Amino acid sequence: MVLVFFNILPIIVVNINTCVDIANQIRKELTLIEAVDRPERLETAPLPYEKDALEPVMSQETIEYHYDSLAKAYTKRYNAGEGDPEFNRGGSLLHNLFFTQLRPPKRNNRPTGSVLKLIHDKHGSFDEFKDKWIETAMSIQGSGWVYLSKSGDIKTIKNQAVKKDVLLPLDMWEHSFALDYRADKKKYINNFWRIVDWDTINIRLTDY
Ligand SMILES: [Fe+2]
Repeated sequence: MVLVFFNILPIIVVNINTCVDIANQIRKELTLIEAVDRPERLETAPLPYEKDALEPVMSQETIEYHYDSLAKAYTKRYNAGEGDPEFNRGGSLLHNLFFTQLRPPKRNNRPTGSVLKLIHDKHGSFDEFKDKWIETAMSIQGSGWVYLSKSGDIKTIKNQAVKKDVLLPLDMWEHSFALDYRADKKKYINNFWRIVDWDTINIRLTDY
């Protein structure tokens, strides 16, 4: 019994450290989103999964293009002082929130804990919330984001401005779905629910 405990102890320690790292990363992202002053430098958050881990909902090809090329470019341009700093800051921070809230696909992946309560209080049920979400997301003209705010509202962002109440954002720029879904935005939006890491959203909600 004692031997078994010592065998699993390293696994427990690794898991605790991973949870602490993720929570610290989330805190860092929220602090940057809430900051009034522009920070000197930004970083692109590391992916908490392998690049093919979100398939078939989000392909490795999309991750390589969207995360490796586009998301990192906003951070790079911000740090180099190139282009519009607000646009690049928004791109860097929103993509950090977006990519770190995902996990491998799960059937019947549903919100839990505090975020479930927030959705129920504001929208009645997760299904009613999803109906409003898809309607709002589909109403975006051109490039933008749809997001669940920390107060439970469904809001949109034109292009990629920083908003201080972003809890759960979905990228509605064409580059986020065109490779996997071509023009089928509804399928992209519906499939998104299969890869949301609700544990991460609950940590964000607690830290706000
Ligand atoms: Fe994007």
